[in-house]
Amino acid sequence: MAHFTKPSEGSWTEHFGLDTGPVNYEDSISPEHFELERDAIFRKTWLNVGRMEQLPRTGAYFTRELHAARTSVIIVRDADGAARAFHNVCRHRGNKLVWDDFPREETSGTCRQFTCKYHGWRYGLDGELTFVQQEGEFFDLDKEAYGLAPVRCEVWEGFIFVNLDDDAASLEDSLGEMGADLAGYPFGEMTQVTKYRAEVGANWKLFIDAFTEFYHAPVLHAKQATAEESRKLAGVGYEALAYEVKGDHAMVSSWGGMSPPKDLAMVKPIERVTRSGLFGPWDGPDLGELPPGVNPSDHPKWGVDSFLLFPNFMLLIWKPGWYLTYHYWPTSYNTHIFEGNLYFVPPKTARERVAQELAAVTFKEYALQDGNTLEATQTMLESQAVTAFPLNDQEVLLRHLHTVCRRHIAEYLDGQPETAVRISAAS
Ligand code: FES
Ligand SMILES: [Fe+2]
Repeated sequence: MAHFTKPSEGSWTEHFGLDTGPVNYEDSISPEHFELERDAIFRKTWLNVGRMEQLPRTGAYFTRELHAARTSVIIVRDADGAARAFHNVCRHRGNKLVWDDFPREETSGTCRQFTCKYHGWRYGLDGELTFVQQEGEFFDLDKEAYGLAPVRCEVWEGFIFVNLDDDAASLEDSLGEMGADLAGYPFGEMTQVTKYRAEVGANWKLFIDAFTEFYHAPVLHAKQATAEESRKLAGVGYEALAYEVKGDHAMVSSWGGMSPPKDLAMVKPIERVTRSGLFGPWDGPDLGELPPGVNPSDHPKWGVDSFLLFPNFMLLIWKPGWYLTYHYWPTSYNTHIFEGNLYFVPPKTARERVAQELAAVTFKEYALQDGNTLEATQTMLESQAVTAFPLNDQEVLLRHLHTVCRRHIAEYLDGQPETAVRISAAS
């Protein structure tokens, strides 16, 4: 039975209780608004920083620069096999504890303990301060009181999340029904990973906007199909199979049909030869029954589901048995770092490997097309020559995202002393 279908009357937008008027995008062009997002969103919500496969053994670690949350964190696998997170700062005089050649760049490795480059203090994998250089020179130093500052760290389906807010609900409660309905998908089997990372000159929400609607796909990405096919697609336009909103999280379910295509003439020669393309390798693994959150409308033409786990983590589950993640890490009101990772079951033959490579390079081409448009959009939004933009029903998830962000800021300001609110309102 279908888990969710389009409401019989009205629009998705009204169905989810969202306003249907034009939007102004002030939240994407304001440095002051971005400062509020850092405190109200990125320092209060669960942020996905990686996967357990990145910590294959005791002492394996990686760092993440969380500019938006105003810190850098170390994620490490402790002696019990659990992931732990700490602020990446030495308790002696505040040096960044783990970095290689460039202090602002992320790093990874394996160690028995962390040693500060400045005066040699050492910390165990559990964060405990284990060694102080010339300890006798200090004044009643209680080493137990100077362990690394911990950051909340929880794992869902192999995805490692951190949260800087000690009062936030658990990760499981925060992911709610959307997380529960995806549990059981074989994420852990897809360990063949291709990673892309790019600095994009646009507000972080604008890129999420571009990836939560497919209204643009037949137009912006027209050249990906053969000429005749793209003319047909543009004529038909785009309509999703289903949308879902669960609390702060949301998803769109979309048709597929290109993996394999109905008709080989629809795709380019390289795709015919490699049996692959944007939708993934045509001969993907059989994953058996999928969890109820995938293809929620049980549509026979289903091809991909795109989940936005608020605030900045997207998960795309493709019918041919692979998945993609997107992360958007803001670095200022009009710049962010985008990460796109493709995850496949490790190939068993050279042919399978080539098919995965073609999916990966095709993805890159699409993402570049999207990224270019974003920078063009950001510059003109900032001109404020136009300030009211109509959104259609296929753009419902953009409206939801911006609404949820504004709600988090309003709740945050509600909890602040009045003077702080006045200052931020005036700025
Ligand atoms: S700042 Fe780390 S040992 Fe001094
Ligand atoms: Fe796109």
